[in-house]
Formats: sequence, structure tokens, C-alpha cells
Amino acid sequence: MYKSIILVFTATIIGLSIAVDNGLGLVPQMGWNSWNHFHCDINETVIMESALAMVTSGLKDAGYRYVNIDDCWAVGRDDNGVIQADPIAFPNGIKYIADYVHSLGLLIGIYTDAGILTCQKRPGSYGYEQIDAQTYASWGIDYLKMDWCNTYLENPQERYTIMSKALNATGRPIFFSLCNWGISEPWMWAMDIGNSWRTTGDIADTWTSMTVILDLQVPITSFSGVGGWNDPDMLEVGNGGMTTTEYISHFSLWSLLSAPLIAGNDIRSIDNTTFSILTAMEVIAVNQDTLGRQGSLIKSINGKDQQIWAKPLADGSKAVILLNRNDNESATIQLQWGDIWESPSTSLIVRDLWAQQDIDTFTGSYTATNIPPHGCVMLRVY
Ligand SMILES: *[C@@H]1O[C@H](CO)[C@@H](O)[C@H](O)[C@H]1NC(C)=O
Ligand SMILES: *[C@@H]1O[C@H](CO)[C@@H](O)[C@H](O)[C@H]1NC(C)=O
Ligand SMILES: *[C@@H]1O[C@H](CO)[C@@H](O)[C@H](O)[C@H]1NC(C)=O
Ligand SMILES: *[C@@H]1O[C@H](CO)[C@@H](O)[C@H](O)[C@H]1NC(C)=O
Repeated sequence: MYKSIILVFTATIIGLSIAVDNGLGLVPQMGWNSWNHFHCDINETVIMESALAMVTSGLKDAGYRYVNIDDCWAVGRDDNGVIQADPIAFPNGIKYIADYVHSLGLLIGIYTDAGILTCQKRPGSYGYEQIDAQTYASWGIDYLKMDWCNTYLENPQERYTIMSKALNATGRPIFFSLCNWGISEPWMWAMDIGNSWRTTGDIADTWTSMTVILDLQVPITSFSGVGGWNDPDMLEVGNGGMTTTEYISHFSLWSLLSAPLIAGNDIRSIDNTTFSILTAMEVIAVNQDTLGRQGSLIKSINGKDQQIWAKPLADGSKAVILLNRNDNESATIQLQWGDIWESPSTSLIVRDLWAQQDIDTFTGSYTATNIPPHGCVMLRVY
């Protein structure tokens, strides 16, 4: 009992006295992560080839920066407790890869877990937070994703605070990505600890998974902003489980939600369609807008068959998504200025962000027709 009273007391003090304040996450992070496509089948070659592909494909020019190694890189600890990379998959160690990634003008991320073991039963950081943070910093790591497997009854705010302080103590700015799947409502407390926090369980490469996660964001879209972002999980664009129309909706929605844009496909063999989705300049600009206000659901129509989502932007304009969630029928969706503006009769310019052109000037409302099943229209209204 004493212990729990002390824990609550400590957490309160910590909550008041610490802010992550590492200068990172001023806009949502952009990059690539190995998990969604490769899962545990990773090695030095695939990480370095992906880093190079980030440059040669043009993803770097579009803003993608972090090359993030997910679970399965570590195998154990040496006699001093220092974490060891798998000597078969990563024969030259992690610093070797970090140096290469940096030489390309990119940043490198790594993965750990708040428990004793990671989700794939590799060593986690529980009890080793300080030494792990020091090790990452000595390798030149720029980003840490920390998972929540094998943590039993631990308190996430407390465990993540320990790593947050350990990262801070290294003196190296390291982006801290919390991944406890929304347990204990991290959006209520993680802003002081990390730069982004997962809000749900893992995404799968299906329309159903993507929209289940979307619905879970609805009540929490105000709990995000400059320095700390709600993370509805990484992108599945290009992994093959959704149609092009669905991937365009996925990317549009994640951009409007101020979600991290972490590609999860094999970028070494990216096809033109996937590339054009992941690099849609004006859609990315909505995500990276410096105001940092997350978009939110404005209206649902016919149950939630059709939806209007909107996000205020720094220049006073609004980004809007007209989304057709119906499985079979195309939809007509009317945006009324009153849905997003206080002065409903003004004339406003409507711009199509995927076509990258102004549609026209409209007074009072704009109606989009023939939005395909699972498709959307993404606009800027100004
Ligand atoms: C560590 O925290 C202090 C106080 O919040 C902050 O000023 C400093 O920039 C942080 N350093 C790093 C490397 O995150
Ligand atoms: C490295 O990983 C990639 C992706 O899983 C795989 O195709 C390749 O065979 C692996 N290379 C080695 C040497 O294990
Ligand atoms: C993909 O785009 C490149 C560069 O724009 C072009 O050269 C190539 O023909 C395109 N490939 C296909 C299959 O359309
Ligand atoms: C609507 O689409 C779903 C999924 O594609 C399909 O299973 C269902 O049979 C369709 N329903 C009608 C009425 O066409």
C-alpha cells in the first residue's frame, strides 16, 4: 500500500516538473519503418538498401527523414548489460548503419520495449533504461520507439517517464515515440514524456482495420499538437491489402489527423502509384502545417456512410476531406460553409489537393459528386 501511495505521489511530482522539451516533433515525424512489410525478417542489407532508396526514390525530397529499425534487431546483453545487435543479421552493429544513414542526410530510429522482453521476445529495456539510452546515443540514434509487450501490471506513465528522463540525460535530442496502444489514455499525459504516442492497437493492411482506427480517433483529436502527436499507427500504403482508392483515403486521413507519416512498404521496389500517393505534396503540407492542430470529424451522414473531416491550417484556410465509407455506392457529399466557418455566405475558393488545382469559387457550399466507394475528395478551402 505504501508503495502505491509513493508511486502516485512520485507520478504527480514528475507530471508537474518534467516536459519532454527536446525540441523535436514540431511537426509530425515522417519516415519509414521496417515492421509493416518485413516484420522480424530484417538485417543490415535491407535497412541500408531502404535508406538508400529513401534518397534515390525521391521520398527524402518529399520530406521523409527517419529510417526506423523495428523489433528483432537485438539478441542479448554483454556482461556490462550493454544491449547487443544480432551478430548474424547485423554483423557490423547498429552504429555502422547509423553512420551510413547519416551520410545520406537522413536520421535513424531504433526500437525497444518497456518490458523485460519485446513483443518478439528480444531483450526489452525494463531496468536497463539508462544504459540503453546511453548506448543508443553513443551509436548516434535519433529516434526511439518503445513498445509495451510483457509489461504485466506496470504503469505506462511511470515506465515511459523513466526512459524519457534517460534519453534526456544523454544530452542527445532523441525523438521519443511511445507505443502502448492507447492503454491508460496516453493522450492525457504523454505530451510531457514523448513526441508521439500510439492511440490504438496495431494497424493491419485492410480497409476495416484502417477505419476501425479512424473511428477511435474521433474523441481524442484535441489532445495533440506541436511537440506531441496522436499516433494512429504507421502507413500501409503500398503493402497490397487495400485498393489504390483506399490507400488514397488512408493517406489523406492520416495527413489530416496530424499522424506520423511513417511509410511501411518496401520502398526499395516502390511502384509509381504508391510513390505518387506517399509524395502528394499538398496532402503532406496539410500534415506538416505549422499550426499543429489535428483535424477532426465535423459531420457524419447516413449513419457514418459519408463523413466530413476538417483541419484548420496556419494561414487561416481549412483542409477538408469528404469521405465515402459506403462499400458499394458512389456518393455525393455537400460541404456547407457553416460546417467549418462562422460566416456561411462568403465566397470561398475550393482547391483539390490531389489534383493540385483550384476547382472554382463557391458561395455557401461545395458539392462533390461521384466519390467512389471507400474514396474521398481532399480540399483546401480559403
Ligand atoms: C532535457 O530537458 C531539459 C529540461 O526540460 C531541456 O531544456 C533540454 O533541452 C532537454 N535535453 C534533451 C537533450 O532532450
Ligand atoms: C535480409 O532481409 C531481406 C528482407 O527480409 C531478405 O530478403 C534477405 O534475404 C536478407 N538477407 C540476408 C543475407 O539474410
Ligand atoms: C514510373 O515513373 C517513371 C518516372 O516518372 C517512368 O519513367 C516510368 O515509365 C514509370 N513506370 C510505369 C510502369 O509507369
Ligand atoms: C457491397 O460490397 C460488399 C463488399 O465489397 C459486398 O460483400 C456486398 O455483397 C455488397 N452489397 C451489395 C448490396 O452489393
